[in-house]
Amino acid sequence: MVTMFEVLGRSDRKYNINTLKGIHRISGYMYILIFLVIAFFCLQYIVSAKTELSSRASLHSFLAVTILALFGIKLSFIKAYRQFYEHVKNIGLIIAVLTFGLVSSSAGYYLLVSEFGTDISFDKLVHDKKDVVIEEDNNKKNQGIILKTDAGSIERGKKLFASKCSFCHHPDSTETNVGPGLKGVLKNPRLPVSKSPAVSENIIKQFRQPFARMPLFDYLSHEEIDDILAFLNTL
Ligand code: HEC
Repeated sequence: MVTMFEVLGRSDRKYNINTLKGIHRISGYMYILIFLVIAFFCLQYIVSAKTELSSRASLHSFLAVTILALFGIKLSFIKAYRQFYEHVKNIGLIIAVLTFGLVSSSAGYYLLVSEFGTDISFDKLVHDKKDVVIEEDNNKKNQGIILKTDAGSIERGKKLFASKCSFCHHPDSTETNVGPGLKGVLKNPRLPVSKSPAVSENIIKQFRQPFARMPLFDYLSHEEIDDILAFLNTL
């Protein structure tokens, strides 16, 4: 932006125009490169998580797609449709403003909630959610759910876990990935984050009303939930 402001906005040129244009072009390529790398990881996340996007993620995707389209239009005005050339600088400005929104909605948000990257623990975040009250007596309601232990269920559960959960949860350790590792999740007395009793009922609740930042899994059928629980019970 600064290079173009220098070229188009000043009457008395301070720097060599061709150098400025060169810097602008290289910045443009760098922008697209970084954009594509980040887009790759975002798309991979969406494909692996297989859930509806949060409103922040939707805003982010919308801005990203719009920026990509504008970039294409801008390039086509520069390379082919020269009659529209006068619009190029406005499109450039819009791209810059949208990029500001794009970065703020994600990196900015992350820096804010993580106190500028110093606090990377989920647990603290979750801890601050004082309005969530977990009822201990969930235990009583739980007697209706019978965990399946047959090999078929466990095998199906394992597949479901691999496609829907393993992106964020390790099945074989308790280390946090995006969410907590789930080794022994149903064997421990309490669930790792909410600290509610480790019973099937509370895991089903986690699918329908995630404790904090886990995506919703309310579309899972009863059979799928039974199979996932059967698998979690083996961890
Ligand atoms: C996009 C990442 C993501 C995916 C996919 C995901 N989780 Fe989570 N999960 C989290 C996060 C983050 C937490 C921490 C608590 C929270 O945010 O609700 C969590 C917490 C949990 C907990 C602990 C809840 C508690 O009360 O302590 C369980 C159990 C769990 N997830 C199971 C699953 C299962 C089973 C699946 C697959 C159907 C799954 N998760 C898919 C991110 C994810």
